[in-house]
Amino acid sequence: MSVRITGTTRIVGLFGFPVSHSLSPAMHAAAYEALNLNWSYVPFNVAPEFIPQAVDSIRALNLVGVNVTVPHKAAVIEGLDWIDEAASRISSVNTIHNVDGKLHGYSTDGPGFLDSLTAHGVTVAGQDVLVLGAGGSSRAIVFALAAANARVVLTNRTRSRAEEIAASVNAFYPSSVTVAEPGQECGHIDLIVNTTTMGMSSTEQTTPTLPPGMPYAGQTVYDIIYTPMETPLLKLALKSGCRTLNGVGMLAYQGARSISIWTGLPLSEIPAQLMENTVLHELKLR
Ligand code: ATR
Repeated sequence: MSVRITGTTRIVGLFGFPVSHSLSPAMHAAAYEALNLNWSYVPFNVAPEFIPQAVDSIRALNLVGVNVTVPHKAAVIEGLDWIDEAASRISSVNTIHNVDGKLHGYSTDGPGFLDSLTAHGVTVAGQDVLVLGAGGSSRAIVFALAAANARVVLTNRTRSRAEEIAASVNAFYPSSVTVAEPGQECGHIDLIVNTTTMGMSSTEQTTPTLPPGMPYAGQTVYDIIYTPMETPLLKLALKSGCRTLNGVGMLAYQGARSISIWTGLPLSEIPAQLMENTVLHELKLR
């Protein structure tokens, strides 16, 4: 697919460091084509010291907006005019929208995670969810799960990080999150979510520690990693008779929500399935 830039092409960007392996340009290009938008999605490799200028440039260059990825999701906030409540709760912005020179910040990671579950027929309300890991992704996901009325058990190698997330989420959704040690018995669990980096190609220990007997048939196991598409945890889960999901769906839906914010179109009109298929296609080419 070739992109033709014209005098009326609008630019959307991605701020990250690095951005060279991002799947977002291909995923967004497919959506813009389907929506008949003369937009182009450009990855910008922004070193941390240039974040203030990069954020200002959204206004100066009249970009539609940008996505923000690692390591800039907290640092961009200072340069914005307004952020929504969900982004403020987790101090993380992955979508900036330029509204007539005012920069608005959102976090679509947690909602995108829930959308991807819904798309696969999984509802979390009233369910018991074990979340492994307590980094930035975990914070977004645990907030989203608590907001959707799930009960969360949170484990992490560094317990203090899990305690901190639990305290901030419980301040809004009382008693929704409890902290356990990795591998500790924690009763019935419907859904296991891995947010640790264990299972990514480069890490040494590849399967996160689970409570005894898990995973077992009937559980859904969601690994937010998408490289590889099938982590050792998902292989184990498949063998155990679980339903498995990888991070491609979350990637597609957080992106679809960004497009919904930038265009004003309802999420139902954004081609999320096409975006997911595009990511799957790109991953198979690598
Ligand atoms: P992100 O922002 O993408 O969620 P992160 O903040 O780097 O990523 O978080 C990585 C998570 O993987 C953390 O929960 C980390 O545990 P610590 O908080 O103890 O560092 C977890 N993690 C990474 N490598 C791990 C390992 N070898 N064993 C256990 N947990 C690991």
